[in-house]
Amino acid sequence: MRIDVITLFPELVATMQDHGVVGRALREKLVDLELTNPRDFSDDANNRVDDRPYGGGPGMVMQYTPLTKALEHVKSMSSENAKVVYLSPQGQKLDQAAVRNLSKCPNLILLCGRYEGIDERFIDAYVDEEWSIGDYVISGGELAAMVLIDAMVRTLPGALGDDQSAEQESFESGLLDCPHYSRPEIIDGLEVPKELLSGDHKKIAGWRLKQALGRTYLRRPDMIKLKNLSDQEQQLLNEYLVEVKAKNER
Ligand SMILES: C[S@@+](CC[C@H](N)C(=O)[O-])C[C@H]1O[C@@H](n2cnc3c(N)ncnc32)[C@H](O)[C@@H]1O
Repeated sequence: MRIDVITLFPELVATMQDHGVVGRALREKLVDLELTNPRDFSDDANNRVDDRPYGGGPGMVMQYTPLTKALEHVKSMSSENAKVVYLSPQGQKLDQAAVRNLSKCPNLILLCGRYEGIDERFIDAYVDEEWSIGDYVISGGELAAMVLIDAMVRTLPGALGDDQSAEQESFESGLLDCPHYSRPEIIDGLEVPKELLSGDHKKIAGWRLKQALGRTYLRRPDMIKLKNLSDQEQQLLNEYLVEVKAKNER
């Protein structure tokens, strides 16, 4: 997979190269990350890429021409059918299914806005999809692009030490993840659930599924409603609710 990012702050996005899962995926060449700054394509003596909005009002707008030149440059180095994605609070809200779909594109071009945003004519002419990371406004598309890149890279085969860890994560199966524990077995009088210490893989899997069903039911009823529970899952959820009730009555 090749990801191009068009950004006025390439050094911000470049920090991903040195850290964690994305850094490792880049070093192992599972993904290629290329950064392009529209300032390098400005005809202005001071490399400006923004101007005041027509109609007046606060803020500046990223201009059409430097962005078009930057995009043409990126397209000349990438595949012809690369998808152009604008990170925008006005886009569709990202979720795990969208992340998985986007990660199947061999070549993505991510466009980061700044200021009041970018000239609408550029969006009309070149942007294939607009995606938002949530219903709030941040100062630039870089952090949004980094969120998307990180989430996509995690889904690539080989990116995580164990490919099953991506499958078990929240949202993958329409459920939140189960709780996790590590050593020591007892700390400040708090114990690890005995099922996890049993060494019985079937029992452990059953306990994890029960917890995932229970916390999804309690924290995200909207997700549980969408999930068609099997008889076994419904039974586990019922058991979870009885156990929680008993615990709360203690
Ligand atoms: C200050 S924002 C512009 C907000 C714009 N005037 C609006 O109200 O829709 C500057 C840039 O940050 C990025 N951005 C802000 N919030 C975002 C979000 N929730 N998701 C994705 N990108 C976002 C976009 O690239 C946007 O062009």
